[in-house]
Amino acid sequence: MAKIKIGIIGTGYIGNVHARIFSRDERCEVAALYDIKPERAEKTAKSVGGKVCASREELFAVADAVLVCTPNKTHTEIAASAVAAGKHVFCEKPFSIGLPDAIKLLHIAEKSDKVFQVGHNRRYAPVYVKLKELLTADKAHSAHIKMNRGELKNPVWTGDPEVTGGFLYETTIHLFDMMRFQFGEIAELSAYGSQHEYPELDEFSIICKFKSGFHCTFASSSDASWIFPFERIEVFCHHRTILTEEMERLIDSKGFDADYETLSFQMTEKEERWGYVQEDAAFLDAILEGVAPPVTALDGFKSVELVEKVYEAIRTGEKIKFE
Ligand SMILES: NC(=O)c1ccc[n+]([C@@H]2O[C@H](COP(=O)([O-])OP(=O)(O)OC[C@H]3O[C@@H](n4cnc5c(N)ncnc54)[C@H](O)[C@@H]3O)[C@@H](O)[C@H]2O)c1
Repeated sequence: MAKIKIGIIGTGYIGNVHARIFSRDERCEVAALYDIKPERAEKTAKSVGGKVCASREELFAVADAVLVCTPNKTHTEIAASAVAAGKHVFCEKPFSIGLPDAIKLLHIAEKSDKVFQVGHNRRYAPVYVKLKELLTADKAHSAHIKMNRGELKNPVWTGDPEVTGGFLYETTIHLFDMMRFQFGEIAELSAYGSQHEYPELDEFSIICKFKSGFHCTFASSSDASWIFPFERIEVFCHHRTILTEEMERLIDSKGFDADYETLSFQMTEKEERWGYVQEDAAFLDAILEGVAPPVTALDGFKSVELVEKVYEAIRTGEKIKFE
């Protein structure tokens, strides 16, 4: 069978992560690369091959499937043009910025007969797959969630809300999607935010109630240092706490004393520990089997909606209800 031809738009940090992973999968080939800084595409081509293209159109002429790995504000326009060119699309998170663009892209993606997948890699990370398995077998009562960053300086554009759409779109959105994945749909939320280091709200405290009755607190800071673990979920069940520490380990404490079991993923290679290998394999599976991918355009849309509801809650000081 002919190999799926992968085209990558944006060959910076994450574009190269995907390029390396796809170059090792025999079901596809990295066929085309395009970056507004051509030297970046040339560097990637030297390590994984592929035609260095002078435009998006040239890339569309070569590729069957297109990865959108450019900064956040460009996603809607580039992903929409790839769908219009009849391509399968893998769009990095965030799906889009702002509700009008997110609604537009959702309609475009849902009308396409090709695969449209969104890059919420953490859903495939073994630590979160294990958490979901445990929470399917037990009933979670409530949780405390944290998603921090050490800085918004690298890459430079992460500190520019005009490009990111806001800090929540850049970092926090990873665990916003994770909340839905683990705990289901949100019914209402309240939120507080403040501004300290960057020209935007950069510190958040959120309380969410879910349609199931489950509830959680969520803290997110953009300048908390990179102290381990910058990302953590603590779930409280019947005489049980399950907690995750980044994608490194899961700790499960059951019963009436302080005993616990630790599941460590530290020896798993980072690209697999963070779920990138599995999400890229899932994209090829969806193309080859003609099925919906595990993270759809609707999932991407829902994470954008959640970001917007949190900003709205802070702006208005109101409790925000979901439809
Ligand atoms: N899923 C994850 O874990 C994860 C991790 C990192 C980044 N991301 C997301 O991936 C995207 C890229 O992030 P990054 O860290 O790789 O950034 P980066 O700055 O390292 O790379 C972005 C690349 O896109 C190029 N580019 C910019 N505008 C372009 C355009 N219009 N057309 C073609 N190329 C263009 C830049 O020259 C650069 O090489 C962001 O949306 C980010 O949120 C996701």
